[in-house]
Amino acid sequence: MITTDSSTGVRGGLSDSRPPPICGLEAMMPVAARIVSVREENFNTRTFRLQICDPELRSLYRFAPGQFNMLYVPGVGEAAISISSDAHDPDYLEHTIRVVGSVTRAITRLGQAGVVGIRGPFGRGWPMEALAGHDIVIVAGGIGLAPLRPVIYQILRERQRFGRVVLLYGCRTPADRLYAEELEQWSAGEQIDVLVTVDNATPGWVGPVGVVMKLLQRIKVNAARANVLICGPRMLNRVAASQFLQLHVPPEQVFLSLERNMHCGFGRCGHCQYGAKFVCKDGPVFSFAEISDIFAKEEI
Ligand SMILES: Cc1cc2nc3c(=O)[nH]c(=O)nc-3n(C[C@H](O)[C@H](O)[C@H](O)COP(=O)(O)OP(=O)(O)OC[C@H]3O[C@@H](n4cnc5c(N)ncnc54)[C@H](O)[C@@H]3O)c2cc1C
Ligand code: FES
Repeated sequence: MITTDSSTGVRGGLSDSRPPPICGLEAMMPVAARIVSVREENFNTRTFRLQICDPELRSLYRFAPGQFNMLYVPGVGEAAISISSDAHDPDYLEHTIRVVGSVTRAITRLGQAGVVGIRGPFGRGWPMEALAGHDIVIVAGGIGLAPLRPVIYQILRERQRFGRVVLLYGCRTPADRLYAEELEQWSAGEQIDVLVTVDNATPGWVGPVGVVMKLLQRIKVNAARANVLICGPRMLNRVAASQFLQLHVPPEQVFLSLERNMHCGFGRCGHCQYGAKFVCKDGPVFSFAEISDIFAKEEI
């Protein structure tokens, strides 16, 4: 059975329509997807290219930048993983996965030709329509670049719809960079400004060294025109949001993708509760204006 219900998120007067999830039994039943290739990004992170096995379901599947799937390995469990590929080409889905626990390890063990279950796409992604006409500053740390990669693909395809676009990306060492070849291409293409910094330089690295937000010194931000998209570890999210707010970027124009433990993925179980919101359904992307009352609270 294919569910076709769609939900609509409202973000400060702006509505964003989402593709319906492609899965059975009210979104709880995973569908089979084959791992068609695996690319190593760094020592503990790989990008898995998946194809939904059933051609009919595959043709129905659509997602928006910033949404996620629940990936399922029978006998092991499920994990929420962002979709990191191009939403324009939903025939294949890419998921960039860092091994941290049982599910991510099991998917990595399956490798090419393995079959996983997927449910999704879930969540409210980046506000692509609202970004049109604005400058965009993308701030990513480590694996946080994964849910932002579909944003970059869409911007590059519709480049004339957006103002100046800057990517600020930080990771531990040069070898830890995700999508290293694409970063080079995006930088060489001169359609977006790409600034990458590392915590620890290794021989041959001639770029900046230090935390991501040090890169802010290298760019000019027009606070009224800028929309900021942030995804990284909790500390980066906090520091980045507060620095852009100090630059007078309005809180409605600062967006963060948040992580919480997930179970159902679509607002039924309460696992991902964040104050009065559910990260799986109301997020994972929130404007700072939506979460300013709880964002700084450690216990939430
Ligand atoms: C919306 C969303 C998008 C996400 N996108 C991505 C993505 O694109 N890529 C990605 O890699 N991850 C992503 N995640 C994170 C991913 O869902 C979690 O890391 C997930 O928990 C991994 O599942 P797991 O079973 O492999 O690890 P888990 O077993 O759930 O372990 C997760 C954490 O718990 C720790 N842990 C595990 N076992 C133990 C133990 N026995 N004792 C103490 N600590 C333990 C691990 O060190 C790890 O830090 C996303 C999460 C959300 C909510
Ligand atoms: S994961 Fe169940 S409500 Fe969010």
